[in-house]
Amino acid sequence: ADARKDLDALPKAELHLHVEGTLEPELAFELAERNGVDLPYASVEELRRQYDFEDLSSFLELYYATTAVLRGSADFEALTSAYLDRAAAQGLRHVDLFFDPQAHTVRGVPLTAVVEGVRAGLDAAREERGITSTLIMCFLRDRPVAEALELVDAAVAQPGLVDGVGLDSAEVGHPPGLFEEVFARARAAGLHVVAHAGEEAGPEYVREALDVLGVERVDHGIQCLRDPALVERLVRERMPLTVCPFSNVRLRVVGELADHPVLRMLEAGLVVTVNSDDPAYFGGYVGDNFRGLREALGLTDAQAETLARHAVDASFAGPGRRRELH
Ligand code: ADE
Ligand code: ZN
Repeated sequence: ADARKDLDALPKAELHLHVEGTLEPELAFELAERNGVDLPYASVEELRRQYDFEDLSSFLELYYATTAVLRGSADFEALTSAYLDRAAAQGLRHVDLFFDPQAHTVRGVPLTAVVEGVRAGLDAAREERGITSTLIMCFLRDRPVAEALELVDAAVAQPGLVDGVGLDSAEVGHPPGLFEEVFARARAAGLHVVAHAGEEAGPEYVREALDVLGVERVDHGIQCLRDPALVERLVRERMPLTVCPFSNVRLRVVGELADHPVLRMLEAGLVVTVNSDDPAYFGGYVGDNFRGLREALGLTDAQAETLARHAVDASFAGPGRRRELH
């Protein structure tokens, strides 16, 4: 018998989860039919066979293409609820959830339809399962800064629409500093601020996210390992890093799971957390990532508990809720 703990029973917070990245092929086909959208694949199996990526941008191409099936608020609610069902079965208790408004507004889907649908899914999970959440609007860094400015102004004008802002999409060539004004407006309005940095691009992107954007957490951040002085700073400042092991392997940031640096990062004193990023595309949800680390790297129960505690502490759940989750 396995004396080790059931990792799904460990209460978890997830801090790096793109709701669009939870779209499983089965639901994609169901929504495509409902909405009369043509997917350029013959079957669920054929779509799933496309999930073999060269790098971040080859993934993003498919990710944005399949979002075309998401049209109305009911679609976003179904997507969010399906994610929460799966994650709840793996111990999820809180999620700071990302969405990409521009992936939808460019297709003529109004921001309000997206937010209403996602919030309906989150609200149902809170009521029915006690899963708490916050909602983070991410700007696509490979689209014009002017679009992000419009979105942040809309968010600031409607308190409660979102709880924070983030920055994602194709990283190299789109440094955080371009979004200085966007993030300044978000911070001035009391919104939480995070950014993807150091996923594919180097340590200088992580420094910019800290120094220019004033982020509270760094999403991915694993390229900090190329700069010992930066690692020292991140340790000293207790800056949380939302690491995504399965994602890093599938997007070829890391060779294989057995090579993943997450446990070395933990030993170095970094405030690392484990997250699923785009679980429908990368081979599993948050509990699957924990299990993968146990199988490939010998993650101990004590290390799993530390990782889970880091996530609760670094989450945007309020102080009362964070205490409850300990
Ligand atoms: N959008 C969805 N997943 C992403 C990732 N891992 N990096 C950047 N943008 C993303
Ligand atoms: Zn991400």
